Parts: sequence; structure tokens; C-alpha cells
Amino acid sequence: MKVAVYPGTFDPVTNGHIDIIKRASRIFDKLIVLVALHRGKDTMFTKEERVEMLKKSVEGMRNVEVDFYEGLIAEYVKDKRILAVIRGMRAVSDFEYEFQMALMNRHLNPEIEIIYLFPDEKYTYLSSSIVKEVASFGGDISTFVPPHVEKMLIKKLRGESE
Ligand code: COA
Repeated sequence: MKVAVYPGTFDPVTNGHIDIIKRASRIFDKLIVLVALHRGKDTMFTKEERVEMLKKSVEGMRNVEVDFYEGLIAEYVKDKRILAVIRGMRAVSDFEYEFQMALMNRHLNPEIEIIYLFPDEKYTYLSSSIVKEVASFGGDISTFVPPHVEKMLIKKLRGESE
């Protein structure tokens, strides 16, 4: 069974991430979408909320699972016998960061393979931060995130609890 993992902060998941999830799930027998920690990144949503938003976003994708992990990706891959790590590449500006991360992951686990997928071009300028920024000014984000994420984001910005 060929298993891949797609790690990220997903604060929140956007349609760009979902585009990558769909592409990867067509290539592998099983895809684990992993909410992981990026030190130094303050998140708007708790890990439970990010997992919940992802789970709802992948409903109906039978070979996709959602998980949370607080350690190194290199270790997760070893423990779960994962064949490849999936990363999205939106633009050349992603390259340097991805290259650094790929080489560090390789150093930590020489067995690791990292596969880059390009999202549809309509998502190349998307990021979780830009979606939060637009939403915080009351802008329309309905084409960037699934409806349930839009709802949670608006609630969060209004300071309402679930
Ligand atoms: N569509 C839309 N947005 C996308 C995207 C896509 N296809 N791909 C990336 N992005 C956005 C993300 O939303 C994120 O936006 P933000 O910075 O505004 O939040 C930004 O691009 C960067 O995303 P990504 O490169 O996935 O970084 P991340 O911070 O979400 O994830 C981890 C980084 C969690 C994968 C990394 O820190 C990690 O591996 N952590 C685990 C610990 C570890 O092993 N550390 C050592 C790594 S060498």
C-alpha cells in the first residue's frame, strides 16, 4: 500500500490545499493530511479546529485521512512507513523555503522522498494569511475556502465560539 503524507499548518485549510489533496489522493493508495507544528507561527485556530475543518473538507474522499502530530515530519514518516511527503509548489518564491526544508528532512531521515505538486493556477496566489487578511476586512473569501471554513473564520473574527 502506497501511503503519502501532506503536512502543513492549515490555518485554515484553503481551496488551494484541497486542490493538492485531490491530486495526491489520485496518485497514492492512502493520503494522510497532517496538521503539523511550525514553530514561530501563531495560529488563529486551535489544532482541534484545524483538524475538524480538514476532516469536513475531505468528506467523501475515501482514501484521505486527517491526523495531528507535534514532532518532526522525518520521524512521523519513519514511524508510519510512509513512502512520500507531498508539498505544494505555488510559485518560484516557494522554492527556496521548500529546498531548505527538503534537505533538512533528508538529513534527518535519508529514506524520505518529497514530491512537489503544482496547484491549479487559480490558487497560486492563495495563502492562509491572505484569506484571513481579506476576511478581517469583511472581504469576500467564498471562492478561496469551503463554506464551512468561511463560516468558522467569520465566527472567529467576531469572537464567537462554536
Ligand atoms: N494553496 C494555498 N495556500 C498554500 C498552498 C496551497 N496549495 N500551499 C501552501 N500554502 C500556504 C499556506 O496556507 C501557508 O500560508 P500562511 O503562511 O499564510 O499560513 C503558506 O503557504 C506556507 O505553507 P506551508 O509551506 O505548507 O507551511 P506551513 O507553515 O503551513 O507548514 C510545516 C510547514 C508544518 C509542514 C513544517 O513546519 C513542518 O514540517 N513542521 C513539522 C516539524 C518539522 O519537521 N520541522 C522541520 C522541518 S525541516
